[in-house]
Amino acid sequence: MKEVLFQMTEDDLETGLRGVPVGYCTTSKVDPQKGLFYRGQCVQELAYLPPEEVIYLLYYGKKGSAQEIQAFFKTLHQRSTLKPATVSAIESLPRQGHPMKLFCTALMILGMLEKKDDYRADCLDVIAKAPHLAAVVINHHAGWGKTPLPQPDLGYMENFTNMLKVPRSEGSRLCEVFKLFSILHFDHGGGNLSTFVGKAVASGLEDMYGSLSAAMCALAGPRHGKANQDCLFFLKQLLKEVGDHPKPGQVENLIRQKLEAHELVFGFGHAVLRVEDPRASVMYAFLQKHYPENPLVKIALFLRTEGAKVLAENPKISDPYPNVDAVSGTMLASAGFDYPEYFTLLFGLSRLVGIARQIVYERCEARDGKGTPIVRPKYLYRGP
Ligand code: MLT
Repeated sequence: MKEVLFQMTEDDLETGLRGVPVGYCTTSKVDPQKGLFYRGQCVQELAYLPPEEVIYLLYYGKKGSAQEIQAFFKTLHQRSTLKPATVSAIESLPRQGHPMKLFCTALMILGMLEKKDDYRADCLDVIAKAPHLAAVVINHHAGWGKTPLPQPDLGYMENFTNMLKVPRSEGSRLCEVFKLFSILHFDHGGGNLSTFVGKAVASGLEDMYGSLSAAMCALAGPRHGKANQDCLFFLKQLLKEVGDHPKPGQVENLIRQKLEAHELVFGFGHAVLRVEDPRASVMYAFLQKHYPENPLVKIALFLRTEGAKVLAENPKISDPYPNVDAVSGTMLASAGFDYPEYFTLLFGLSRLVGIARQIVYERCEARDGKGTPIVRPKYLYRGP
């Protein structure tokens, strides 16, 4: 007898497939109480490793030896530079609108001009080229000018930081913050919207780049990846309302007022987690250590405790705790990257690692290598 995994009733319809198992995810797991694990390893323990080591773990499913990691670095480095034609095509795109639109288009262009039409090879290529791609998109969109050529020997995120033509102050922790941000966003189980969409599109045998472009469109929405941008806006509004020396009581009162007025308190709750998002906990600790006097950090920390306290009073709220978006923008802004429009793109730069690897699993490894069939769920007809 096979185990019954889930029994559906009508109440499970139109709930965004919440809790409905649809397949296997081999790269990561989100446990409601314990949070995020990459290949069985808790993400808090991986947060300060070099990003390439974590990519290796996600890609191969095991920790690499020093030699294996070295060889992997080399593979990534060799593939890291976009063709000049790809860069020119991206730089000829309009700069209006949200940069995620450009990023989705840039992924399509990359596929048109550079794809190998092999999910495994394209997975490695897109991971290797993503820092260059994202830097070209941001520099072009922001009007910061031409992107310098990649220097992959610097390291995966060091190279990205170096290519980004953002003004930087002496002693800036920007690169450190980009590394931490990226590791914490690489993957989040199989069912988050962008990953699910990417795999669904790939199930029709669309190539890696089209599938990732679709995934990034899914990430662009405010209920998913754009939440980090919106949360920072919300925190800045709060800060305006309470001033630069906030007290916990003031923040609590503001939250109560907002809830009474049926306004949204940003950055709380998650479809799976039932504790504070451990990715957020890592970032809060980083901010407490490095930027304790920054007013934005203070307000983010008050919101963390007061928000959870007030929301927990409502028994209908199953997860009253802060999620990763509650604080990730504050971390980027504190380190000098106060460009919220690009926060979702940074999320995408990181998340495409997990999505690309999950696409390889579904296309090349699942069902003894046959791959999963085209996604085709059933909708019940309701109408005349
Ligand atoms: C994510 O990292 O993708 C978000 O927390 C959303 C999710 O897991 O559904």
